[in-house]
Amino acid sequence: MKAIIVYYSQTGNTEKVAKEIAKTLDKKGADVKTVSIERSLKKSYDENVEDAKKEEKAKIEEAQTDLSDFDMLFIGTPVWCGKPATPVNAYMDQCGRLDGIKIVPFLTHGGGGPSVTFDKIKDELEPKGGNIVEELSLSSEEVDSKTGKEKIEKLISSVA
Ligand SMILES: Cc1cc2nc3c(=O)[nH]c(=O)nc-3n(C[C@H](O)[C@H](O)[C@H](O)COP(=O)(O)O)c2cc1C
Repeated sequence: MKAIIVYYSQTGNTEKVAKEIAKTLDKKGADVKTVSIERSLKKSYDENVEDAKKEEKAKIEEAQTDLSDFDMLFIGTPVWCGKPATPVNAYMDQCGRLDGIKIVPFLTHGGGGPSVTFDKIKDELEPKGGNIVEELSLSSEEVDSKTGKEKIEKLISSVA
């Protein structure tokens, strides 16, 4: 199984989850590639809040990977104002067709929960042909915890 993990992380939480997912998939014998979405322009917290509310697409470095090479896409985002982070909005806009690819959105949040983040990801990726098979939500407190690790292991057991 070939899996790609694409994520945006501003303060490292979502990145830690992406790396733990990669490690767990690797142990299962999957072929894994991990890609961090890079912003071309950083913005202040207040600007990010305003942009996230309006579901704007941040300027990001162009996605280089052809997703048609993969069986599974893990897409990770922090929750910003109940929604995906703006660099992830940009990535979803430019990722191309996802026909036949199983998709697992994952997110981290500060305690407010996913709100509509998973719904927004579904609305963007299913019309491109992707098939959402599972999802994972971790609070920032869970990220480095035993509970977090167990949730990741459970997720990978159910999809890989
Ligand atoms: C602009 C902004 C908006 C946020 N909005 C929310 C929110 O609506 N609900 C919530 O639970 N956490 C919110 N957070 C907290 C982040 O989701 C949380 O700290 C997350 O783990 C950060 O991930 P990262 O370290 O990968 O960037 C927000 C953080 C930022 C920077």
